[in-house]
Formats: sequence, structure tokens, C-alpha cells
Amino acid sequence: MKVETLPVTQGSYNLKDYEEAYKSFDWKDAEKVFSWAETGKVNMAYEAIDRHAESFRKNKVALFYRDEKRNEKYTFYEMKKWSNRAGNVLKEYGNVEKGDRVFIFMPRSPELYFSVLGAIKLGAIVGPLFEAFMEGAVKDRLEDSEAKVLITTPDLIGRVPVDELPHLKTIFIVGSDVEEAGPFVDFNKKMAEADNDLDIEWVDREDGMILHYTSGSTGRPKGVLHVHNAMIQHYHTARWVLDLQETDIYWCTADPGWVTGTSYGIFGPWLTGTSNVITGGRFKPENWYQTIEDFGITVWYSAPTAFRMLMSAGDELVKKFDLSSLRHILSVGEPLNPEVIRWGMKVFNKRIHDTWWMTETGAHVIANYPCMEIKPGSMGKPFPGIEVAIVDDQGNVLPPNRMGNLAIKKGWPSMMRQIWNNPEKYESYFLPGGWYISGDSAYMDEDGYIWFQGRVDDVIMTSGERVGPFEVESKLLEHPAIAEAGVIGKPDPVRGEIIKAFVALNEGYEPSEELKEEIRQFVKTGLAAHAAPREIEFKDKLPKTRSGKIMRRVLKAWELDLPAGDLSTMED
Ligand code: WT7
Repeated sequence: MKVETLPVTQGSYNLKDYEEAYKSFDWKDAEKVFSWAETGKVNMAYEAIDRHAESFRKNKVALFYRDEKRNEKYTFYEMKKWSNRAGNVLKEYGNVEKGDRVFIFMPRSPELYFSVLGAIKLGAIVGPLFEAFMEGAVKDRLEDSEAKVLITTPDLIGRVPVDELPHLKTIFIVGSDVEEAGPFVDFNKKMAEADNDLDIEWVDREDGMILHYTSGSTGRPKGVLHVHNAMIQHYHTARWVLDLQETDIYWCTADPGWVTGTSYGIFGPWLTGTSNVITGGRFKPENWYQTIEDFGITVWYSAPTAFRMLMSAGDELVKKFDLSSLRHILSVGEPLNPEVIRWGMKVFNKRIHDTWWMTETGAHVIANYPCMEIKPGSMGKPFPGIEVAIVDDQGNVLPPNRMGNLAIKKGWPSMMRQIWNNPEKYESYFLPGGWYISGDSAYMDEDGYIWFQGRVDDVIMTSGERVGPFEVESKLLEHPAIAEAGVIGKPDPVRGEIIKAFVALNEGYEPSEELKEEIRQFVKTGLAAHAAPREIEFKDKLPKTRSGKIMRRVLKAWELDLPAGDLSTMED
């Protein structure tokens, strides 16, 4: 097979360096960039902020923040003070101690970043929640994690069922005058009075730091726990994959409610002392290009859905902006279509570099490095020091060009350490021989490039966001009209997949367009807008196994006009 390759991007190292590292990379050596390798005093927030505030980077801008209303910047020195203040406020008014779960449910703002860092400085475990979550999604996560403290805004507090969450003791409200009563504390007021100095809680490298909830194909969303040790991989991938250098202006478009927005919206850039641009507000193609031009973005990390949306906004729009500062563009979250890469070459005169990883891996595992030729459609090659293979269901490694489970040898530094409250679930990710099974299928070619083929399970990736069909089905079943519900991802040219629901109605309900809309709204307001089915189809009855499980694979086959496969377990 002839594979098209694209030339290399000028990065700060060459292919030989990568190939050398690939053979000899040693995580034990790699951790020596941090003084805690010797002192044993570990804290992610110290390494990301304070260390630079005490160095020649003291007055370097750490955070450029911009949305419709605010345009602010903070040096590393100022970030240290503000995150210290946040730590003091959380400690004093929320009694936050090491190991406590502190959840943060708000749109992007400087306060969000101060809070994440402040909580980590106290040794707390931070749980970021995407602002689009509605009551059901918020409750599930706060309940499962037994969160003690929540930081949120007046707009979002209505979605927090405070009375049903006995572990939640303190709620900090950010952004306007708040009546301080019961669990409610005015965050801004306390921040204004807080002390600039804070005693950092030195933790063990294996202590919990961040808890990201993510969806699988079955069950409620699960809490993926990452520990301070992950910083070793955040740092080195920020160097090798993002190629962050002293003078870079970096922009990651992801929200910290998702793992990209923390690992590479907070940790990676700041561990490397990079100036980090954060923008708030809604997606608008012209605002995005304006951001690149105004800040002189050099390294830009985004997602295929966003690139496809920019693509459909047209090439004329791109020409109105000066985007010449860009030197390195990256993508994550879903398959990066060769067509999008070609568009990037045309309009930015730059290649878009795909990266592959997951909430569970905590950091990059596979990437197209700047030094290397890209084969469009391939995710690239493994990170040095990480063993990636294609294995069968028993854990046997398959030869090149054979499709199988994309697997990683246990033990990379940023690997998740727990599924919160669910050790069996955690164990279920691993096969004998120490292989972590990603849930993706892929093959590896003779050159070691890995080609994504699809999900093995029913997990839906819509606009780069991972949605569990079970969560949507459960919400649908709460609607009085619905007797049965099955949810699948349907291929879509812009969003990767859209959510399609098949529903059977209860006695006394008739299919109609109004009912579809009502159901859509029901999921939108009860769970999250991105989880609401764009398409709904009424059926008299859904295909089920004899044990009553909806057979999504049959629904998918119906939808795509494919053979439905083995139906032996299907009820009549
Ligand atoms: C799933 C993980 C970690 C960042 C964002 C998503 C899919 C991720 C790629 C890629 C094709 C990709 C996989 C994976 N995915 N990157 N480059 N090409 N698919 O994190 O929400 O944990 O989802 O996203 O299916 O398993 P996540």
C-alpha cells in the first residue's frame, strides 16, 4: 500500500533525537527535572507555578485570559499569590484538607485556575465539572466522589441539588455579591481579604490530585483518579509533543472540564514555564482567528470538530487574519481526517499533528512529533518510554498491519491510579501480562505508525466529547412517554458522530415531532446539551437480549444498513 506522507515541521529537535530517545528513554532519569526527585517534597502546583515565580520567569506572563468581558494577564509571581489566596480561602472557610474532594463547576475564568491550583496546593483532589452539565450529571459526580467543597457561580448553583448531597459542606460562589448563609460563601470577597502566603502541603508522588469523570458504554460515569506523579509525563510530553519553548505563546482550546483542558490547559504548559492563553465564551470562527492574531499564538492545540467547523466557515475568512505566528498545530479527541490536514496545509501552511490519549492515560501516549513525517490518517508513534502494542483479546501481541486492541504496557507515569470507589472496574481495564486495554481498535504499520480504526465498545465521541450511551438512555427512561431507549453514535461529517436515540413509547403516547423536541429538551436540561440526541426514531419495540439488555449493535446495524451479526442472544 502506498501511503502519502507529509514533510516535517521545524521543531526544536530532530528525528535522530526522537529515535535515540525511543531506544533509551528512562522515566527514572526523566523525573530528575523536578527537585522532588531528591527532596521528596512533591506538589504539582508548586512545580507548575511557584518554582517559576522564584526563578527568572517571575515576571513572565503565565496566564493571558480573555472573554467577552475580561482581558487580563497574570505573571507567574501573580499566579503564585492568587493561587495561595485561593488555597487560604478554601482552607479557612471550607476546612479543606489533604485528600478532600474539591469540585469546581464554572465557566473558564482566572478564578477557576486560581482555585484548581489553590486546592492542589492543599493536597486536595480537584474535580472539574464542565459548565454545560445539568442537575443529573452534577449530582451523579458530586455524590459518587463525596465532594466536600464546591466552587461555582450564581448562574450554575441552581443545577446543584444541595439538599440531596449530605457530604457537601461548603459552596463557594464566584462572581457577584452573595448572601452568605448556610453552606454559601462569597469567594471573591474572601479572596480580596486573603493572605498572599500559604504553606504548601507536601504530598507523596502517588497521592491523588485530580478526578475526571468520564463515560464508558455501561454504568454511571466513572471517576478517573490521577496523582501528582503524572507531572513527569505532563512535563516531557509538553516538551516533545507540544514542543513548548521559552518564547512560545500557547493556546489550548479545551475546557478544564475535560482532561485535555487540565493536562494540557494547565499542567503541561505551566510545568514547562510557558505563557498560556485561555479564552472564555462561545466558539466563533472569527474570534478564534482573532485570538491567534492578537496574542501571536505559536503553538495551538485543538480538536478535529473545531477544525472542521473552521473549515466550513471558509478559506476567505482565514485570509482576513495574520496567522503567521503559528508554528505548531496539534489535534486530539477523534480521528483527524486527512482532508483536515490538507486544509491546514493550504490555509495555515502548517501541518496539523494528531495526538492520541485518553482520560485514563492522563497524558499523550501516541503522537505525530514535529520532527517526523506525518502519514495523514495515522495518529503517529508511541511516546519514548511507553510500550504500545496491538493485542488480541487474550493479550497476545499481534504482528504489524493486524487490527486488534490498542494496548499500553502498565506503568507509564500518568496512568490513572484508581476508578473512584470501584476497584473491580479499575482491574477490568487490564489483561494478564500487564496490558491496559484502551477500548479502541487500531493497527500498527511496519514503520510503527498507529492507525485508529474505531471504538470496540459503544462509547460515542460527539464533537470530541465522550458520551456514554447508558447515561443518555437512563435519562430518556425518566421521561414519562418512554418505555425503552437505545442510544448509538451515528457518523457525522462535522461532529464525528451525533447521538441518535431509538425509543419505544408507553401506552397512551403517540409519536410526533413535538414529542421528539420535548424529549430532546428533557435530556438537554436534565443531563447536558451535548448529550441530547440530535436524532430520535420511534420504534414499537427495541432489540433486546433475553436478559433484557438493549442490543445497541443491532440498532447500529439498522441505522447503517449493515448485517446485524450474531442474534442468538436476542429475545424472540
Ligand atoms: C477516546 C478517549 C484525551 C483527550 C480527549 C479525549 C478517542 C482520542 C484520538 C485520536 C482518534 C481519538 C479514542 C479514545 N480519541 N484521541 N487522535 N484519534 N480517536 O479523551 O474523552 O477520554 O476519550 O477518544 O476513542 O479512546 P476521552
